[in-house]
Amino acid sequence: MGTQKIVWDEKYSVGVEEIDNQHKRMFEVINELLEAINTNTTEDHLGNIIDGLIKYKVFHFATEEKYFKQFNYEGAEEHILKHKEFNDNLMVLKDKYPIYSVEFAFELVDFLEDWLIDHLMIVDQKYKKCFAEHGLK
Ligand SMILES: [Fe+2]
Ligand SMILES: [Fe+2]
Repeated sequence: MGTQKIVWDEKYSVGVEEIDNQHKRMFEVINELLEAINTNTTEDHLGNIIDGLIKYKVFHFATEEKYFKQFNYEGAEEHILKHKEFNDNLMVLKDKYPIYSVEFAFELVDFLEDWLIDHLMIVDQKYKKCFAEHGLK
């Protein structure tokens, strides 16, 4: 279970400052959520973090997908499908629990940590070369 704080590492970098910063921000928010769970916070507070996280995810996917289009990235279709899969899995998780419950928050952290690390290491790394070739850094 991935329910320990997650720590940013240079191996996660995609060589683009804007995107690395977004990924780092996601690490931070996941850790914030974990901290909130561990300190028995209110459902209101959990709700704020969860809503923020979901909005940020939408913004982040849009950033990556904007560059796919701009650079005519050959892996775009496959990558966008991965983002969609993520959204679908999140929906399934949302239906399992009351959305701002501790149970939901806990499962969300677990799900996000596993997904984020996996996605960063495998899927996001694939556009590194293409983005670099287009001078993005
Ligand atoms: Fe991605
Ligand atoms: Fe990403």
